[in-house]
Amino acid sequence: MKAIVVTDEAAGTAGMTLMERLEPEPALNDVVVQVHASGFVPTEMAWPSTWTDRLGRDRTPSIPGHELAGVVTALGYGTTGLSVGQRVFGLTDWNRDGTLAEYVAVEARNLAPLPGDVDFTVGASLPISGLTAWQGLFEHGRLQAGQSVLVQGAAGAVGSMVTQLAREAGAYVIGTGRAADRQKALDFGAQEFVDLENDVLEDVGGVDLVFDVIGGDIGKRSAGLIRAGGTLVSVVGPPEARPADGLAVDFVVVSDRAQLGEIVQRIRDGRLRTNIGNVATLDDAVAALNPTERITGKTIIRVRP
Ligand SMILES: NC(=O)c1ccc[n+]([C@@H]2O[C@H](COP(=O)([O-])OP(=O)(O)OC[C@H]3O[C@@H](n4cnc5c(N)ncnc54)[C@H](OP(=O)(O)O)[C@@H]3O)[C@@H](O)[C@H]2O)c1
Repeated sequence: MKAIVVTDEAAGTAGMTLMERLEPEPALNDVVVQVHASGFVPTEMAWPSTWTDRLGRDRTPSIPGHELAGVVTALGYGTTGLSVGQRVFGLTDWNRDGTLAEYVAVEARNLAPLPGDVDFTVGASLPISGLTAWQGLFEHGRLQAGQSVLVQGAAGAVGSMVTQLAREAGAYVIGTGRAADRQKALDFGAQEFVDLENDVLEDVGGVDLVFDVIGGDIGKRSAGLIRAGGTLVSVVGPPEARPADGLAVDFVVVSDRAQLGEIVQRIRDGRLRTNIGNVATLDDAVAALNPTERITGKTIIRVRP
């Protein structure tokens, strides 16, 4: 099969090569999926799991990409809940070969059925950003209707999902980002926008929840925006500063079939809109994943036409 392979951590995405690899075999409880579309998070080259297995042993050459939409072609021993020929989407194991390939082996429990009226390209754009937003807001952030949420990077892949889900849940949403992203954040449902390049973040006052996808200095300043009893949710590592009288949570997204179902249902009925910036073929994936100009939204690789 054709796959994108990386062997050199220092080279980053520039080290990606399209090559022939053996098709994966399904392990216990796995399915093999023929990948129709694949999602990639630009920071993957910095994740230890891209380079090593769970015991820290070198696993290169490795295939990146951990989001997929496709069709089940084989079942491993003991696999239940999915069948050959079924359309699926979901999140694959960080420490195994990923989805920038024609086939991937993945534990069945990490996938959910993809309804027939949802395109594979859309399906592949949802798992990481959708589940991260859902888990950050509702599990870790315990968001309640009527609360205020400040979404750092609101026009990005995760931020646009956070913005929409928080609005739907009855929150007041303030988005932040670069000056150029103001309209995009407002279009996704932010009721106010803080331009991090020109406005003063601290002028926002106190909020119940900050969802931080940026970190660094913005992450540190986020702690000071939290009202007493509020929560700072970070997806970019442990917060360097904590709210004076609130919680700080950092987490890594996990797969969840029921939540994937909730997310895709919202896509179908128009409550949620995905945020795709570019779609490219597997043959053009190396160039598409090494963009020379700024792309907002996710890059999706359409593996099968
Ligand atoms: N822990 C987890 O489970 C988890 C899950 C998903 C994602 N993540 C992490 O979350 C981060 C965001 O992922 P994503 O897919 O949403 O990325 P993304 O689509 O690039 O979104 C990030 C947004 O924030 C903006 N931004 C970044 N730095 C900024 C700054 N200093 N000032 C103003 N705006 C800034 C970006 O603009 P530019 O594009 O112009 O920089 C972009 O609009 C990544 O680091 C990713 O690894 C973690």
